[in-house]
Amino acid sequence: MSGPVGDFGLIGLAVMGQNLILNAADNGFTVVAFNRTVSKVDHFLENEAKGKSIVGAHSIEEFCSKLKSPRRIMLLVMAGKPVDDFIETLLPHLEKGDIIIDGGNSHFPDTTRRTKYLDTKGIRFVGSGVSGGEEGARYGPSLMPGGNEEAWPFIKDVFQSIAAKSDGEPCCEWVGDEGAGHYVKMVHNGIEYGDMQLICEAYDIMKRALGMSNKEIGDVFTTWNKGVLDSFLIEITRDIMYFNDETDGQPLLEKILDSAGQKGTGKWTAINALDLGMPVTLIAESVLARCLSSIKGERTRASEKLQFVGRSTKFEGNKEQFLADLEQALYASKIISYAQGFMLMQEAAKEYKWKLNKPSIALMWRGGCIIRSVFLKDITDAYRTNPDLENLLFSDFFNKAIHTAQPGWRDVVSKTALLGIPTPCFSTALSWFDGYRTKDLPANLLQAQRDYFGAHTFKMKPEAANEKYPADTNIHVNWTGRGGNVSASTYQA
Ligand code: 6PG
Repeated sequence: MSGPVGDFGLIGLAVMGQNLILNAADNGFTVVAFNRTVSKVDHFLENEAKGKSIVGAHSIEEFCSKLKSPRRIMLLVMAGKPVDDFIETLLPHLEKGDIIIDGGNSHFPDTTRRTKYLDTKGIRFVGSGVSGGEEGARYGPSLMPGGNEEAWPFIKDVFQSIAAKSDGEPCCEWVGDEGAGHYVKMVHNGIEYGDMQLICEAYDIMKRALGMSNKEIGDVFTTWNKGVLDSFLIEITRDIMYFNDETDGQPLLEKILDSAGQKGTGKWTAINALDLGMPVTLIAESVLARCLSSIKGERTRASEKLQFVGRSTKFEGNKEQFLADLEQALYASKIISYAQGFMLMQEAAKEYKWKLNKPSIALMWRGGCIIRSVFLKDITDAYRTNPDLENLLFSDFFNKAIHTAQPGWRDVVSKTALLGIPTPCFSTALSWFDGYRTKDLPANLLQAQRDYFGAHTFKMKPEAANEKYPADTNIHVNWTGRGGNVSASTYQA
């Protein structure tokens, strides 16, 4: 008996691809597997896939012929040109209504472009964020699909079956049109960068300010993982703290070169935030912290030339209290980071005309993904209670949390500044918070300066407007008596 047998096809047998196939097979789907280097297909079939409902294909033609209609094909190949190349290779073998899903970390404008392009060919394209690494892919990732919504009813069963579950709900929902799925995954990664940097700062403070050993720091993370910070990233950090180099029994962590890598998704988030004019300071700072770490040679030279000058080099105070404050500083900064991330997505929804659903985004991140945490349950609840919440900090829960955390947070930022220990993300979060809650910022002076040197104009505060300087009008003042009265044109970048 021949004919199409496959419910779902997957191209790309690297670690994520193989594990997603195994996951889908375990959930009752017959999966057709293909890889550009075909020997990998045979190896996979003879090993990991043996005895499972997985069939191999040795050419794109064979792959397509083995899939039931409408074909559901997922690409898990390197982002960029390989995705476009595979799309072109697939096209001659597809029929109208077939579905191509890109599960890589593609840049969202590429996904928007591909959705539109494939729509003209009658093919429904989906760009889906996939998070959770190897284990997530195997036992339940967080999936963030977006693109051509017509595809959703056809892929929903596979996606929601293989996705992680949180309190019985799948960590996968339709995100929105065009590149919305990859956009949300990009912001997820930006937040991941921020969470990781915040944890790194906490570790550095415990190590350098409090002189704690890795084992002691690991014990603190163990405790934190039972409270409000309970999350996958705290859990793995705890394990890293306890991990010793078997050659000498010393912590391996201390031997790892302090030069961070990055594949670009955090940077994309920061660039997009600048493009949309959104103050997403924490993610941007976490990207820049990686950049600073990576100029290790220059930092080493600077460490010899630039000395610490301050009143004290030693932590003074109650260590237990300080550790409790540190937990609050991390918690508060994390709240700020997520508040900023959701602000960005809110703005993106407006800008790109997507219907992003905040409660379901929080739900998708609750389980399976790298930033999964108990905290995301609170965010889900906050947005479920009020989906139109202007800012996460306005919800009763987070409003209370940020107020409770504030004294400890301020103490940590100020004490570490006095000790010369860098806290780019703790500090930027606090500065942002203080800026955000300030009604009158010194931008009045900035506007005056701009008008002074470039006649860029300013507007009056409505309550201070008068006949000479009316409200809601672009005003230029001849500050020196020398300049003319002509003002520059006004436009907003
Ligand atoms: C995930 C991760 C993953 C990402 C890595 C590496 O959600 O599973 O975000 O998609 O590729 O975290 O990112 P960097 O190399 O940029 O740190």
